[in-house]
Amino acid sequence: MYITKIYLKNFRNYSEQTVDLNENVNIIYGKNAQGKTNLIESVFLCSTGRSHRTIKDNELIMEGKNSFSVRIEGMKDDLPFDISIHYEKSGKKLIKVNGLKIRKFGEMIGVLNTVIFSPDDLQIVKKGPAERRRFLDILISQTNPSYFYNLQKYQKTIKQKNALLRKFDKAAGGIELLHVFNQKQAEIGSRIIQERIEFINEIKEKIQENHSKLTKNKEIIEIKNISSAGRESQEESALFKFLDNNTKNEIRNQACLYGPHRDDMEIYVNNSDLRSFGSQGQQRTAVLSLKLTEIQLIREKTGHSPVLLLDDVMSELDISRKRYLLDNIDTRQTLITGTEKRTYSAFEYKTTYLHVINGTVEEIL
Ligand SMILES: Nc1ncnc2c1ncn2[C@@H]1O[C@H](COP(=O)(O)OP(=O)(O)O)[C@@H](O)[C@H]1O
Ligand SMILES: [Mg+2]
Repeated sequence: MYITKIYLKNFRNYSEQTVDLNENVNIIYGKNAQGKTNLIESVFLCSTGRSHRTIKDNELIMEGKNSFSVRIEGMKDDLPFDISIHYEKSGKKLIKVNGLKIRKFGEMIGVLNTVIFSPDDLQIVKKGPAERRRFLDILISQTNPSYFYNLQKYQKTIKQKNALLRKFDKAAGGIELLHVFNQKQAEIGSRIIQERIEFINEIKEKIQENHSKLTKNKEIIEIKNISSAGRESQEESALFKFLDNNTKNEIRNQACLYGPHRDDMEIYVNNSDLRSFGSQGQQRTAVLSLKLTEIQLIREKTGHSPVLLLDDVMSELDISRKRYLLDNIDTRQTLITGTEKRTYSAFEYKTTYLHVINGTVEEIL
């Protein structure tokens, strides 16, 4: 699958811009703060429905404007496809796939698959559980729309339960109501946990394979799901019981404290926690292993090679890791950003050079 055209209007620092891409390598270059990452972000947005750097859609609207539009055209299995997103300051979002308005957000998942490599990736290992959950959720959603639906349903339930906990009133049947919410939370939550565990099991070997190659067999990498609601929380009845047994804590804290929205994914390298004990180099390598696994997984599950978005990463990797990355890129479409117009010798493919200056993109022949 590949993108042929990106159209932006009032998106970040782009007032109006059309960018044509070729199906192989696209080098997007320019000085800092010109709009290279913004362009990558618009592609990621059309792929997953969200930005990779902010959860606030309003930040994506050009300062002083009231809405933005992004449209992506591409080819998949020799057929054209397009995705467009129009977003207004009020929060209204209109998404169209192949010209048709979608009713549910999940319907756009899987239309355009991308894998992004960015310097922020390191936060997956460095920062708190929220970053890791987000990474895992986006990853699973890309190949499993039903997971995405469950997540949305779950988040809605948590929101409602939180509202109840904030204004908890025992006299008005609060306990009974909480019991009903717990049941619902357990039903959907256990499925989410189950899917995460299954997913982690599924990618185990692939990650290790990539990691072994990157570390010349020196490191063992392991990923574990860390449950906030007991060891058996992937089972509905166990999760339900756990929630009901802990209502006091939730009432006292006025918030949902247990379940997949509070779980973590721990990454171990040679049996020690990567987040606390890994060196920067080890953390970087682990992220690269994860990302390479993501590419393989998407390719296997969908039959399509995802579009690769390499934002500012070429300058950060050492030669052997860069080599490994490039060797695994094949012929799929790649968008590479950097500060200089340069060719990557490993690519023998058609290359398009796009120069970004202050929110405008110009193709340089
Ligand atoms: N909502 C917005 N409205 C206008 N300009 C924005 C908005 N968000 C970011 N920018 C501008 O975009 C530029 C950063 O773009 P970015 O793509 O991150 O740069 P780089 O080329 O270094 O990757 C900055 O100049 C920033 O002020
Ligand atoms: Mg950038």
